[in-house]
Order: sequence, then C-alpha cells, then structure tokens
Amino acid sequence: MVQASRLFFKKKEIRTGETPVPRSRVAALWPPNLKGFRMKKSYGYFDDERREYVVTDPMTPEPWINYLEGNGKMNAFISNGAGGTAWYDQPHTGRLTRYRLNGLPMDAPGFYLYIKDGIEIWNPSFFPVMKKLESWECRHGMGYTCFNASRNGIKSSLKFFIPLKDEVLLWDLKLENTSSEMKELQIYPYIDYSLHGYIKDTLYFLVCGNQARYSYDESSGGLMSDYFAFEAPFMGKTIFSASERFEKFDMDRSRFIGRGRTEANPVGLEGGLQNTEVKDGGFFACGTFELTVKLKPREARRIILKLSVSEDICEARRLSEKYSSVKEVDRAVKEVDERWEGLLSKCQVTTPDRNTDAMLNSWLPKNIRSTMRNGRSISHRHPGDGSSLRFRDTMQDIMPGTMFYPEETRELILILMRSITASGRVVTGIDPATFTYPDPKHTRSDAIVWGVFTLYKYLAETGDAGILEIVLPYYDKEEGSVLDHLSRGMRFVGENTGAHGLPKMFDCDWNDMLQVFSNAKTGGETVMLAEQFIYASKLLVEILRHAGKTDEIPFFEKKSGDFSGILSSDVCWDGGWFKRLLYPDAELGSSKNKEGKIFLNTQSWAAMAGTLPATKVRKAMDNVSQMLDTECGIRLFTPPFTTMMDGVTRFHTNTPGAGENGGLFLHANTWAIIAEAMLGNPQRAWKYFSQILPNNLSARNPEHYGREPYALASWVYGPDHDAFGHAALTWLTGGAAWTYIAGTEYILGIRPTLDGLLVSPCIPPDWDKFEVQRRVRGATYRITVLNPDKVGCGNVQLTVDGSPLKGSLVPYASTGKTVEVRAVISHTKQFANR
Ligand code: GLC
Repeated sequence: MVQASRLFFKKKEIRTGETPVPRSRVAALWPPNLKGFRMKKSYGYFDDERREYVVTDPMTPEPWINYLEGNGKMNAFISNGAGGTAWYDQPHTGRLTRYRLNGLPMDAPGFYLYIKDGIEIWNPSFFPVMKKLESWECRHGMGYTCFNASRNGIKSSLKFFIPLKDEVLLWDLKLENTSSEMKELQIYPYIDYSLHGYIKDTLYFLVCGNQARYSYDESSGGLMSDYFAFEAPFMGKTIFSASERFEKFDMDRSRFIGRGRTEANPVGLEGGLQNTEVKDGGFFACGTFELTVKLKPREARRIILKLSVSEDICEARRLSEKYSSVKEVDRAVKEVDERWEGLLSKCQVTTPDRNTDAMLNSWLPKNIRSTMRNGRSISHRHPGDGSSLRFRDTMQDIMPGTMFYPEETRELILILMRSITASGRVVTGIDPATFTYPDPKHTRSDAIVWGVFTLYKYLAETGDAGILEIVLPYYDKEEGSVLDHLSRGMRFVGENTGAHGLPKMFDCDWNDMLQVFSNAKTGGETVMLAEQFIYASKLLVEILRHAGKTDEIPFFEKKSGDFSGILSSDVCWDGGWFKRLLYPDAELGSSKNKEGKIFLNTQSWAAMAGTLPATKVRKAMDNVSQMLDTECGIRLFTPPFTTMMDGVTRFHTNTPGAGENGGLFLHANTWAIIAEAMLGNPQRAWKYFSQILPNNLSARNPEHYGREPYALASWVYGPDHDAFGHAALTWLTGGAAWTYIAGTEYILGIRPTLDGLLVSPCIPPDWDKFEVQRRVRGATYRITVLNPDKVGCGNVQLTVDGSPLKGSLVPYASTGKTVEVRAVISHTKQFANR
C-alpha cells in the first residue's frame, strides 16, 4: 500500500502543523484540485442520476460494502465481491448466514452464484472463483446491489434487495444468451448457514450437528433451516429456494466444498451435487442447489432466488411462494426505489460541487440510515456481537433521522430517555427489551447534551411539542416527563462540578480514550463539556420557553454564565487555545504538556458555545488550522501520546497517529466545520468540509485510502502514523450524521429552528449560487441562494413568495404549501453564532 501511494507522490511539501511532515509520510497526500474535480484513475464512479456507485474493478483494495434492508426485520450487507451476511432483526441474535470476519480469504463467504458453462465455472460477482470476465460492474444503489457481468456469450445481471415489508432476501437473476449458439448452463446459488446467536456460531459452531437441522422441504421445494437450541433467542426458520423447482441440492458444507478446498473450487461443482442434508451426520451447513438453464441464441430468462425467514415455517413458505412471481418482485423493487426517492426528496441540493451533491443528496442519507439501524454493530469489520443502543451515539446517529424517519426517531428518543436516572445521571446504554444496562454505573459525562441537540432537532423538524409531555420512568426510580428528563440530565452536569468549577468528567466525556486518564487519576474536569453545556443550554432554554416552563431557565443561564467566565479565564485559556482536561494538580491540552498539547474539540466547541471572547476563539481556530489541520482532515490533537501524564508510564490505547490517539477522527472534524461557519469564515469551513468527504478523500489515492468512496470514514490515519491517509472503519459512525448537518445546515445554512426555517449560508466565495429543495413540517421550500458579491457568507436579503422579508428566518408554511425562497448574500460581514 505504501508503495502504491508513492505513485501519487507530488514533490510539494505539505505542512500539517508546526513541523512539516516528512515526505515519506505524506505520500498519500495528493492534494486534488477540488474545483470541477472528477475522478480519473479509480475503481469506479458515481452514477448520480441513479444514485449508484458503480464499482468497475472487483479488485478494490478492501471489500466495498452496501447495506440492504427493507423496512422490516430482514437485513444484510453485501460487498462488491458478494461477500456478506444476512440477519433477522439483530445481528447478534438473528444471524442467518455466515461471514468469517477474520478468516482467509477475506470477505467470505456471502451470497454466491456459480454459473457452469460446459466445464467452466464463473461468478457474476467475480469472487469467489475469480474467473476472468469479459465485462463486469457492481452497482451499489440505495436499496440494492446489482452485479452485471458477461462471459463467453452469457450476460448476467444479478440484483440483491430486500422488499419493504417482507422478510426475504431476493436475488433477481437475468441470464441472456448473446451468442449465436444454443447454451445449456447449470447455475448454483450458495449460502453458508450461521447459528443464529453470533457468539454461539463463532465459539460453538460444532453444535450445528445436533442443535440445528438443514433439510429439503418438500412443501416449498426449497432448502429449510430449522433451529432447536433451547436457549436460542431467535428460533426462526429459513427457506432458500428458486422461482422454479430443483432436484439436486447440497446442505452438508463439508461434502459440497470438499476437504482442503474453499468456496473458490467446491468439489460438488465438479462431481455433482449429492442431496446431502445436515441431519445425516453433517456438522456444517450450506445451502446450494442446481438449476439447468437452456437458452437459445438471444434468449433471456429470469430466475428469482429467495432466502425467506420467519419464526413460523408457514410464513417462510408463503414468502417463498410469493416471490416466485416476477410480478411481485418487480412490484417490490419499485416500492423500494419509490421509498428511497420519497425519503431523499425531503432535501435535495444543487451546488457547483458535484461531490458535495452526491454526498448530500444520496450517500450521506444512506449512510445515516445504516448507522441508525446498526449502531456500531455490524460491517465487514464490526462483528455484530451485541446490541449498540447507546445514549450518546444513538442520539447523534438519529439527529438527521428527525427529518427522514420522524416516527422511528421519536420511538428511539423515548427508549433512550429511559437511560436517565432520577438524579439526572445518564447510564451509557440501554437494552430496549429490558430497559437495563449491564454496567449502569458507567458514566460518560457528556451524554445528556446529545439528547438536547436531538430533541431540539426533532421539535424543529416536526413541531411535535407533545413529545415533551410524555411521562416515562427514570432508569432507577420515579418518573417524569421527557422535558423533565432533559432538564434533570442537564442539571446533573451543571451541578456536578470539580475543583475548578467545571463539569466533572466521571469515566469520560465525548472522547472515550480519555478514560485512560480517568482510570489513572481522579478529579478530572472537562473543558469540552463546559462548552457543550453552554451550547446545549441555549437550545434547552429555547425549548423551555416554547413549552412555557420558564422557572427552569435561570439555572441554565446562570450556569452558562459561570462556565463562560471560567472558560475565558487563564484556568482554561492557555494563551493560544483552550485546554482540554483539568485535574487538581495537572492539565491536558496545554503548551506545557509534552504530548497532547492542543486538542481540536475544545477549540471548535468554544466557537459553538458562542459566549466566549471572540478574539480568543478566533486565535484558537487559527491554531487549529496551523497545528492540527492536514489535507486529509484535522487531527484530534497533537502530539499523540506515548506516555501517560507522568511522562513515564506507557500510554495504552491506540498507536500514535491512529484513531483517537491524534488520528484524523472525522466525527470531530465536523464541529470544526460548524465552528468556522459560525465564525463566518467560508474558506476554512469549506476546506474542512470538502476534505473529509469520502469521494474527495478517496480520490487522492483510492488504493492507499482503501475504503469506499461513498461512505464516511470514522477515522483516517494521521501524519504521525506510517499509514497516513489510509481510512479505517467506514459506515458506522456518528460522523455521518454530523457531516450531513454541517453540510446542509451550516455550509448551505438551511436549518429548521423552533420558529422557522433559517437561511444562513457560508459557502465558498467563488460560488455564484446554489439551490435547495427542502420539506419541513409538510411544506416544501424551494430555495435559491445567490452570491453576487462573492462573499460566501454574510447577512441574507430574503424574498419569500415574491415579497421581501426582514431577517433570515422563513416562517413555517402550512402542510402541502410550496414556498419560493430567494436569498441574496450581502457583503455586510456577519459575525459569530449564527
Ligand atoms: C467512537 C464512539 C463514540 C465516541 C467517539 C470518540 O466513535 O462510538 O461514542 O464519542 O468514539 O471517543
């Protein structure tokens, strides 16, 4: 990888902070000219029209995955090599098919289709056989993944998707004979069954032979899996079948694959299928069957393959039967497409930057959906071994969900609220089935602020103030309204302060890694949380005022004032930036520290708080640019830790420059975008925004970057690491939600508030204009923003339905109305905290 990245090395010195980074480390940095930028050398391209990413080379550096889900309980992810797994409801309890996370070959198994043409065997997904194909592409779309491939006069198109309402994974196959000869093919779909509990499947897979049964089901004409283990959380049955009957099949994986072989060369495809079942001594189960397809020249044929699931075998059979009909399949795919279009039409943008449009219009919303649904649980790198409903993470993940999925978001808010104790302390996570958490003492001190942000967004987006009055139990005892839950949570932060008068850190604040310090040292106070408290209080006060609960307001205003005073003083101000953590006898994030001198978050949130001295805030953000920024994102802090604060004990979490140890943690980058937009600094806001978009990051050097160009990376290795510029985890990150918010609400500046739709852009000064079509509270706003003075940011002059309007708030219109909004950015400079 390092070698490949050298190919792109440009002899330009790149400064990434105080000290220039050695050339060998910046090999991955190939600063692209983002203006009018289109990828040239890459593994694929965006088909914006169809909202697809088209992978044109199967040999991507790593599996590039897509999530498939309807709106029911069936889920799957699938890579561009057809590796992947399907699960029912939760991946740790309802795992239906197996994906070996740390096995070789990687990205296997999955959902394979073997096509046997004479003695030749190939896959439309290229993998696992890897037979050279004459044409190949994999189209990852919003609700499906489709492989188009051809070889030796056979054209195949294989589309995977899950209908909106039914629990079935469909493989819609079209085969066409493009040759002038008659063709007789055999086709074999293949899956590897998993015991439903992920841990059981990983550790006790041997019970497959006595706790599960895999057999031919005469009634449906499909392959049935049945599970007997008494303690199994999910007792569902599956039917794997085709739209036509088959006679030959195999379910004993050992006998189908053969000793010493893999899915790349199963012995069963050479010697013929033997109708094995896993009730006749087999210990590993797979599902495969043979269909013969005869095609005259130019003839095409459609075959539907189906993996249906239900706790009730009759229902699984019914689904299998239903989707034997091509008509039903066509209807289902249309419904999936229409649902996505309907959701995405809630916010569509047209800007001069194509990569921004692709991310904001399609791929970030898709990413947000997957994160909302899967938390930090399952991907080709996450095992999916437990539930991941956590107050802090989930609250952030669902923020934009308030626009796309208001009902689901509401439900999740009401579950999460029950993690708040009667004292206002927030328990880290919650199991929705039992409303308990295994480690209820664990306290991430920042949790509640994310609850305030999400509630505010929900109220602004929907106007559903009734949610505040719903009465729910606290985690431990008593009950109270949703608004009380929020207030108590915020009070807890305001009242639990340490020696310097700042909020106590408890186990950690937003930055989990800081737990290493709280484990070693007591008395930590968090500067970041004090800043977040000020911002959250502002929103909470607005909520309280709207709800007529003004008694509570003085506490939050007073506390915000106290915190602002401490933050502005030398207790927290280090001379060039805001410190990060305070202890009675030590501090972090100060120029006196050898490592961890300057942290990103306390600078961004100082700007977002909006009450701290403007000159200090600007200086701090200038230092972010000078000392933390790179061309691939902003470091979380610098220098990374090698020792603990005593300067002796080794620091154990991430290696220097990786992840939370001074890596480019993109989630935290989004607040720097917002901070610069709030400060009215369009060039920097734009630089910070565009440089973390996956299509831009990947385009610098797709091979070295490694991961999907269409899904946000949680973090990218920083310049203190040899893998600088390489992406780590993708898809499951709160960064997706925040990047979307930063882009739509702070760069484009279209933001619902409690009182109306705010228009407050901060765009690249060279843009002439942009357009946004946004649906809020049932009305549609068609907004055109013009930038004639080339300032990018400033006051706007609004014209609403042809009439001039003072200020920058468009009043909400009634349901069904379409409102034409024209905003002209004027050259009057505006400052701070829009
Ligand atoms: C991960 C965690 C999130 C945390 C962040 C920074 O993304 O899921 O909860 O805030 O890391 O530590």
